[in-house]
Amino acid sequence: MSDGTRKYFDEVATRWDEMRRQFFGDGVRRAAIAAAGVAPGMVVVDVGIGTGFLAEAALDAGARVIGIDISDAMLAEARAKFAGRSFESRRGDTDHLPLRDGEADAVVANMVLHHAPDPAGAIREMARALKPRGALVVTDADTHTHEWLRTEQHDLWLGFARGDVASWFLEADLEEVTVGDTQETCCPTSNCGTQATITIFLARGRKLIG
Ligand SMILES: C[S@@+](CC[C@H](N)C(=O)[O-])C[C@H]1O[C@@H](n2cnc3c(N)ncnc32)[C@H](O)[C@@H]1O
Repeated sequence: MSDGTRKYFDEVATRWDEMRRQFFGDGVRRAAIAAAGVAPGMVVVDVGIGTGFLAEAALDAGARVIGIDISDAMLAEARAKFAGRSFESRRGDTDHLPLRDGEADAVVANMVLHHAPDPAGAIREMARALKPRGALVVTDADTHTHEWLRTEQHDLWLGFARGDVASWFLEADLEEVTVGDTQETCCPTSNCGTQATITIFLARGRKLIG
């Protein structure tokens, strides 16, 4: 994890809800929470939680949520938003998630994989934390060519090929793996006014039994 990425997200944390609404809509969250099969009593981990976009829907569905992020400022926003609810925050990064093996019924991650130094390793870590038959759902950008996102928003990867994501899920011993379309787009605007319209995939898999 780079210090630059953490500093960037610390700086934008109080504005993130507003920025996020310009980037992508609620359809992504509905698709992710439905694909994870979130139900009352489940332990759901939101990796790269930000201010709690996915976590909020999981809490509304009756889950207990653990939110993980590298940014203390993002975690502070999430804690303030979810005070009094069944929510716990943990500081950590995708390389070494602060989770016990088999701690989660579901792990969800929206738009963090393209910030992960080792995306295949991040998926292995998320899968490690799942109970048998637990679901991993990752939503992120399809491959694109908007280089300015590396400098302006600290993206490490210009999206992903869906075939690569499927391979990483399978290598992490997940089964019933699918990588499909959310019908949603991510639409950031650069400092010089260029608007990107990037499609968003949804990858899902289940942890093997035993
Ligand atoms: C693009 S934002 C998405 C936030 C949230 N998931 C959402 O949908 O609004 C990416 C988030 O991932 C966090 N992040 C970036 N790199 C990370 C890493 N290596 N490990 C954990 N969190 C990371 C950032 O601090 C930020 O909160």
